[in-house]
Amino acid sequence: MKALLLSGGSGTRLRPITHTSAKQLVPVANKPVLFYGLEAIAEAGITDVGIIVGDTAAEIREAVGDGSAFGLAVTYIPQEAPLGLAHAVLIAREFLGDDDFVMYLGDNFIVGGIRDLVDAFRAERPQAQILLTRVPDPTAFGVAELDTQGRVMGLEEKPKHPKSELALVGVYLFTTAIHEAVRSIEPSWRGELEITHAIQWLIDAGRDVRSTTISGYWKDTGNVTDMLEVNRSVLETLDRRIDGTVDDDSEIIGRVRIESGAKVTGSRIVGPVAIGADTVIADSYIGPFTSIAGDCRIEDSEIEYSIVLRDSSVSGVRRVEASLIGRNVEVTPSPGRPAAHRFVLGDHSKVQISS
Ligand code: DAU
Repeated sequence: MKALLLSGGSGTRLRPITHTSAKQLVPVANKPVLFYGLEAIAEAGITDVGIIVGDTAAEIREAVGDGSAFGLAVTYIPQEAPLGLAHAVLIAREFLGDDDFVMYLGDNFIVGGIRDLVDAFRAERPQAQILLTRVPDPTAFGVAELDTQGRVMGLEEKPKHPKSELALVGVYLFTTAIHEAVRSIEPSWRGELEITHAIQWLIDAGRDVRSTTISGYWKDTGNVTDMLEVNRSVLETLDRRIDGTVDDDSEIIGRVRIESGAKVTGSRIVGPVAIGADTVIADSYIGPFTSIAGDCRIEDSEIEYSIVLRDSSVSGVRRVEASLIGRNVEVTPSPGRPAAHRFVLGDHSKVQISS
């Protein structure tokens, strides 16, 4: 069995912050979301992974390399434009050969991995197995309609009037039957070869298409509340590990990961918390469910239930809560008089002031 990991796309700017142009590299608990996908694939006992790359190929290659860090052998498959998920299967034909495969969308996060799913698929081998999850607004997803026995009757891509609240999750398992399907469909109104249509083609041809409904699913939709929540759920599983240095005036409580080169002085950190490499935490309080990426500086401040991305600094500010701070950001008190708030905020920013 092989894996096809989709990490292409045109690198559109992400809301609410433009931390990277490849959306698959958005960090969750200081690790790119794509890495969780790679780890889930390795954990399912798969070693051959084809990664579809587009405009952001250089960023993805730099982050993943040859895959050996994950115990995987990676083949990069360039896609000239994001022509659809079924197009990705088309161009991966040679790589996939006659193997069954799992197709994994690189911007999706599945809590608990995919091992059980892959095992069940290996044992039963339907022509396709899809994953579903209940979402409050399915209009931004593929949507499935099931019959009373739970069989998949129909699929629609981003319907205006969804027939159910069951959204397609970005993990699909296929036998070679999918190759004929992706060759048989036409581009959709948005100009893409939709995998949803290819699976519908299998259903219409009377093939065995099964579904499993899961909970514990996330993808970056620009919703900060969701991003803080997924960060929290991953931090909950963190093991305590301190590779950086902590001075005697500091107190580290519970599951806290401090990466090498990080320096903590005169501070109190209450886990679960992740502190990235070479970050400095001085005279501060870092509270539960906070991820601070590498190369940051937090000084004389208090932060809790928040995410801080690379190269940012927070100094003399208390207290920051439920916040997402992008890359290369500086947060400081305003200097002297007048006591005013001063902002330089990017597009789609949201600020709440406690005064
Ligand atoms: O995330 C789940 C949803 O993913 C499903 O509910 C939908 O049925 C499915 O069509 C897909 O919808 P999106 O519109 O959200 O897919 P998106 O364009 O964001 O692409 C998903 C991933 O695949 C992303 O990591 C980029 C990559 N990709 C996408 C396209 C269209 C490629 O590598 N090549 C492509 O041609």
